[in-house]
Amino acid sequence: MSDDRIRIFDTTLRDGEQAPGCSMNLQEKLTLARQLERLGVDIIEAGFAIASEGDFESVKAIAEALEETSVASLARTGEADIERAGRALEKARRPRIHTFIATSDIHLEHKLKMGREQVLEEVDRAVRQARGYTDDVEFSAEDATRSDWDYLIQVFGCAVKAGARTLNVPDTVGYTTPVEYYELIRYLREHLPGAEDVIFSLHCHNDLGLAVSNSLAAIQAGARQVECTVNGIGERAGNTAMEEVVMALKTRPDAFDGLDTRIRTTEIYPTSRLLSSIIGIPVQPNKAIVGDNAFAHEAGIHQDGVLKAAITYEIMTPQSIGRPSNELVLGKHSGRHAFRERLLEMGYELVDDDFQRAFKRFKDLADKKKSIYNEDLEAIVADSVTEEEGRFQLRNLVVQSGTFATPNATVELLVDGESKKATAQGDGPVDAVFKAIVELTESKAELLQYQVKAITGGMDAQGEVTVTITEDSRRVIGHGAHTDIIVASGRAYVNAINRLDWHKARREPSAPRGI
Ligand code: KIV
Ligand code: ZN
Repeated sequence: MSDDRIRIFDTTLRDGEQAPGCSMNLQEKLTLARQLERLGVDIIEAGFAIASEGDFESVKAIAEALEETSVASLARTGEADIERAGRALEKARRPRIHTFIATSDIHLEHKLKMGREQVLEEVDRAVRQARGYTDDVEFSAEDATRSDWDYLIQVFGCAVKAGARTLNVPDTVGYTTPVEYYELIRYLREHLPGAEDVIFSLHCHNDLGLAVSNSLAAIQAGARQVECTVNGIGERAGNTAMEEVVMALKTRPDAFDGLDTRIRTTEIYPTSRLLSSIIGIPVQPNKAIVGDNAFAHEAGIHQDGVLKAAITYEIMTPQSIGRPSNELVLGKHSGRHAFRERLLEMGYELVDDDFQRAFKRFKDLADKKKSIYNEDLEAIVADSVTEEEGRFQLRNLVVQSGTFATPNATVELLVDGESKKATAQGDGPVDAVFKAIVELTESKAELLQYQVKAITGGMDAQGEVTVTITEDSRRVIGHGAHTDIIVASGRAYVNAINRLDWHKARREPSAPRGI
C-alpha cells in the first residue's frame, strides 16, 4: 500500500518512556496521551502491557480515554504477552496489537537461542493469536537492519499470511544509513508477495545521529508509517523525533512528493513542552524545531534580514509549530473562563481536578507576580498535572540563612492528613529544607540531581525546580514552581518523595522494562 498519507505512530509512552529518567505515572501518561490526540497522531503506543501492572493499567486507561486515535500495546510473540495486550485493549475504540520478535542472526544466536524456522513458527502463531483480538495487527522484525534480507522476506511473508496489516522494519540499534535503509525498504516492497496490501513502517534509533535522515529515506522508499517520539526521547540516543519528520515533510513538499501527515503542527510546541515538564528533562537549546534557539536569530546580519523579510533566514515560522510569543497573557483579575481559554489556546485541556489545582496555583501566583506569561502557565500546568494525591503535602516553610547564620529550616508537612513540623540545619537553605523533609517523611532516597531554572525574565520571575531522587534503583523526578526558589525546591522534593511512595505502594519493578 503506498498512498500519500504518512501515519504517525507515536511511541513516546513506550519506547520513549523506556529511556532513563523518562518514566511517567498513570496520570501523566493520560495527560500526554490526550495531548497526543489533540496533536493528531494516528496511533499511540501506550505501553507494553505485560511488562508490569503499571504498564497494563496505563494501556487500559489510555485505551478507554481516547476517542479517535488507535491505541497499541507492544507484545512479544509469547502467548501470555499477546493475551495481556489483548485484555488491556478490550475497551479501545481502535485497538492495535504490536507484536515483535528479533530476526537477525546475532539476536537469534545470542539472545533468543532459536533457529530461523522456530522464529517463523512464533511469528505465525503470535499474529494469528493477535488477530483473535483485533483486525489491526502490526508485526515488527526486531533488528531488521542487521538481518538477512531474504530471511526478512520469509518472516514478513509469514506475518502477512497470518493477518498482519502493518510491517515494521526497525533499525533497533541505530546502525543503518539513509541509502541502505532506502534500499532495504525498496527491496522488501519489491520482493514481498502481498506487499501492496500492507503498510510498511519505519522505526529508527539515533545512535549515529541518523534517525531522522533514515526515517525520511524510508518514506522516500515507500514506507507510510513513521514510528517516533516527541523530542526524540527513547532508548540510548533516542528515537526519531516526531516534530522533525513532520516539519521536514511540511516544509519540503517538493522533496517528498507532497506526502503529509495529519498532525496539527500548531500543537507541536505545546506537546514538546508538556513532555519536557512532565519528565523534567529539558530540550537541548539547539534542538531542531522545538529547542529554545531554533528560531532565535543572534547575528546582526541575520536579524537585519529577518526584519526586512522573514524568508531570508526562516524556512518556517514559529507560529506554525505553535510557539507562543513571550507576551503578557493574564493578570490577577482574570477569571476561570479566561484561564481555561488561554490554556486551550496553548494546547492544554486539563481534566477537572488538574484544572482546579492549576487555577488555584494561577491565582496564588497572580497575587505575587504582576505579569504572567505563557511560560508561567506552562510551569503551573506541569506542576498541577504532576502533583500526586500523595501522603505528604508541603504546608509551610521558614528558612534562615546568610553570611552570619548557619542555614536553618523549619518545615511543616501534612503527613497522611496530620500536620507535622521539623527543624534542620544544612549547608545551605535548600539543604536544610531537604533535611527537614527527610526527617518528616523518613525517606531513604538519595538525591541525584537538583536543577533550578528561571521561567521568564524579571525580578519577580518564577523559579522552576526539578529534583531527581533514587531508592532501590528506581529513579523518580519531582517538580515545583514558585516565585521563591526555596519554596519551589521544597515542593519539588515533596513531589518526588510522593512519587516514589506511589511506586512503592504498587510494588512496581524498578528495573528498566525494556526489551
Ligand atoms: O527498537 C526496536 O526494535 C523496537 C521494537 C520493539 C519495535 O522498539
Ligand atoms: Zn525501538
